[in-house]
Amino acid sequence: MKECLIAPSILSADFARLGEEVDNVLAAGADVVHFDVMDNHYVPNLTIGPMVCKALRNHGVTAPIDVHLMVSPVDRMIGDFAEAGATYITFHPEASDHIDRSLQLIKAAGCKAGLVFNPATPLHYMDYVMDKLDVVLLMSVNPGFGGQSFIPATLDKLREARKKIDESGYDIRLEIDGGVKVDNIGEIYAAGADMFVAGSAIFNAPDYKTVIENMRAEIAK
Ligand code: DX5
Ligand code: ZN
Repeated sequence: MKECLIAPSILSADFARLGEEVDNVLAAGADVVHFDVMDNHYVPNLTIGPMVCKALRNHGVTAPIDVHLMVSPVDRMIGDFAEAGATYITFHPEASDHIDRSLQLIKAAGCKAGLVFNPATPLHYMDYVMDKLDVVLLMSVNPGFGGQSFIPATLDKLREARKKIDESGYDIRLEIDGGVKVDNIGEIYAAGADMFVAGSAIFNAPDYKTVIENMRAEIAK
């Protein structure tokens, strides 16, 4: 399996000091910045858009930025985020009228592309687009808010997704998002994930470095 990536979700960061928060979490050992985009339409919450992504790049953030689009429609956001410096752009298949086209737009814009599966969304949405995927993201909570509890059925779904990815032969990351903590990351890793989003577990802790180190230690067990 590939090297595991820890991707703190800035949804739980202090937005009044966002640049500093991102600097601190990267200095604490994070690999990727997870950037949650919510539109109060596809999900019942409203967050940040391409201008904030661009502002982080202008601030000097060079780490990969993982843009998780919880928006509908999807396509009109893709170019803006690519220009704003997104590394990954992922979207929910239910939110796009033309999944293959949205994936093609992301790739053509020079970004890594991925599909996001809600807890009850079947995995077969990936079946005919495996060649266009760089990442598959399984939601282990219903999207919209940080700080929710991990839905245990996601572990079986992770094993199923891992099998599909391995059988496909493509180089695709398996990302997990929602309720990831130090005390469950070991079993999530064992179920097949290799990219871990964690918002409240990291940003609500007094010391980001300790949490990230403890997460890596659980993965290495
Ligand atoms: C939820 C977001 C998550 C969220 C995770 O819709 O996609 O990225 O920030 O937060 P925690 O880790 O607190 O569950
Ligand atoms: Zn997310």
